[in-house]
Amino acid sequence: METAYGFSTVTGREEKQARVNEVFHRVAERYDLMNDLMSGGLHRLWKGAMVSWLSPPHRAGWRFIDVAGGTGDVAFRIVEASRRKASGTVLDINASMLGVGAERAVKRGLQDNLVFVEGNAEKLALPDSSFDAYTIAFGIRNVPRIDLALAEAYRVLKPGGRFLCLEFSEVDMPVLDKVYEAWSFKAIPQIGQLVARDRESYEYLVESIRRFPNQENFASSIRAAGFERVTYRNLSGGIAAIHSGWKL
Ligand SMILES: C[S@@+](CC[C@H](N)C(=O)[O-])C[C@H]1O[C@@H](n2cnc3c(N)ncnc32)[C@H](O)[C@@H]1O
Repeated sequence: METAYGFSTVTGREEKQARVNEVFHRVAERYDLMNDLMSGGLHRLWKGAMVSWLSPPHRAGWRFIDVAGGTGDVAFRIVEASRRKASGTVLDINASMLGVGAERAVKRGLQDNLVFVEGNAEKLALPDSSFDAYTIAFGIRNVPRIDLALAEAYRVLKPGGRFLCLEFSEVDMPVLDKVYEAWSFKAIPQIGQLVARDRESYEYLVESIRRFPNQENFASSIRAAGFERVTYRNLSGGIAAIHSGWKL
């Protein structure tokens, strides 16, 4: 079986996953700094937009899972938005990313709200119907079988549960697309080289963005997994988009 890894094609999804794991293992310590540099801080606004669309209730017992949660950035924001009432599971396939996140949770005093769990988005070792919300930010693009991840999202959500996905998407503004193109293919790999001493990982990042389905196609995949009332919002002219769906 052939699986896309950036623009080059590698054989086998295990190989793709192994390469993704290596990338995030290498960048874990500098991951959050790199996000700020590469997006000019925009990722903060985008994550903020996802959390305000989610609008977590201020009540204990409301549970969410943040898949591909990495260093915990999105989960921290959800817990804060719930006035520290929500409890969440941060799940990621990469122990290095989770290690950084768990340390940070302690520093922020959020360790009682969050558990950090190593696992694969394609096969969650979690019971059916156990969460009120499932979030995934800049993660699904890295998962070899997106359809399996969506099916798992549907399975672990309670009826009435909410799915939200933040991901890079297709730019739909004439001038912005050229600027974005130059930034992606020239600046980002260079920042990767200078700051993380890792040009290749950031070349992978840019290439994987280009391969990910556009807004409409991704919305169709979410519907195919069983979600209803599927909609999306573009952010920064489509550089990123948030998709929303409900398990009804
Ligand atoms: C770009 S980071 C996003 C981290 C975090 N959600 C954020 O927005 O800051 C992508 C994450 O996806 C994780 N990942 C990749 N493949 C995965 C899989 N199959 N299952 C779970 N996590 C995965 C990586 O380890 C990495 O931490």
